[in-house]
Amino acid sequence: MDFRPLGRTGLSVSSVCLGTMTWGQQNSEAEGHEQMDYAVSREINFFDAAEMYPVPADAKTQGRTEEIIGSWFKARGKRDDIILATKVVGRSGMTWTRDDNVDLTRQSKAQINEAVEKSLRRLQTDYIDLYQLHWPDRGLPGFGFNSYYDYDTDDMIALEDIYDTLTRHVEKGNIRAIGLSNECSWAVMKFIAMAERSGGPRLASVQNVYSLVARRFDYSLAEISMREDVGLLPYSPLAQGYLSGKYETQIPKNSRKDLFPAFLGRYESRGGQDAIAACLSAARDLGLTPTQFALKFAQSRAFTTSSIIGATTMTQLKENIDAHDIDWTKDMEKAADNIHKTYRSPVS
Ligand SMILES: NC(=O)c1ccc[n+]([C@@H]2O[C@H](COP(=O)([O-])OP(=O)(O)OC[C@H]3O[C@@H](n4cnc5c(N)ncnc54)[C@H](OP(=O)(O)O)[C@@H]3O)[C@@H](O)[C@H]2O)c1
Repeated sequence: MDFRPLGRTGLSVSSVCLGTMTWGQQNSEAEGHEQMDYAVSREINFFDAAEMYPVPADAKTQGRTEEIIGSWFKARGKRDDIILATKVVGRSGMTWTRDDNVDLTRQSKAQINEAVEKSLRRLQTDYIDLYQLHWPDRGLPGFGFNSYYDYDTDDMIALEDIYDTLTRHVEKGNIRAIGLSNECSWAVMKFIAMAERSGGPRLASVQNVYSLVARRFDYSLAEISMREDVGLLPYSPLAQGYLSGKYETQIPKNSRKDLFPAFLGRYESRGGQDAIAACLSAARDLGLTPTQFALKFAQSRAFTTSSIIGATTMTQLKENIDAHDIDWTKDMEKAADNIHKTYRSPVS
């Protein structure tokens, strides 16, 4: 396992991060614990959670994932060995995450304060290493958007106010570093500028969708990552399972597509499906498994800090960690580049 700096925080994270969003829904507490034990035995020191997990978001299950991590910390006593990331939701209808009768979840001072406090309690810890805004508070088009439509700037919480709230938590010691997720260049640069002006906490990372078929990060955020030391934490590096080849001929029972078909919608355009087929075939031509090609691609980007993998079985988890053991070669880069030149980034 190689370790990379998390921005300029001084923290060092494994270049593979353990995703957690299936724990408490597809996976039990015992399975979550088994995954964490195994990941640690493979030198993974970085876990990614969120207040809204598990998925799909549901009032009945919300918070279970963090509780599972919390009970593991309590049982294993390994809190200080782990760099723990979690997230506060952005603007949404998931009002069950809040005690008060709110119309929407927002990244107001009161709601962030409540979210931090509840995450700390569920996680059975007194600090979060990386606290991320899961998606923006402003009315930016959401997950998987293709066309930009402007939003009402009178109806957004100023980034300065959000930054100020997060800064207070860093000062209190509840949070060690801050990150963004599902973000665009404008907010990333604003967060960097606010830290430069104030001397406050510097943005450490951006967690966006990224894979062989979802490469929009390359177009402008990548350069920001390199110049400003704000690395990418790619999520869904396997295109939610598609890039493993598991859906080539059938939909396996209890797979994500079987259980939650709507999740995979962003991959199901004609361009997306053609690009996925090209990735599977290129992997085999290179003598790789599709999973190796996809996972090593995401981890090998110069702007990647740590690639967030997800698994619902131990077999998958082992295969996915092992997939990073190969060397990324010029031929592999050429194959990935050819796919990108042909299909661009069909997934956003
Ligand atoms: N910030 C965000 O908005 C955001 C969004 C999504 C994810 N994330 C983070 O990123 C993590 C990973 O995301 P993801 O789960 O979408 O990643 P992914 O690697 O693209 O997909 C993982 C899923 O694919 C299937 N799978 C994994 N390994 C496999 C293998 N070797 N062979 C066949 N199938 C395999 C499993 O689902 P089945 O077994 O159910 O088919 C697994 O849950 C999450 O846990 C979360 O921490 C963040």
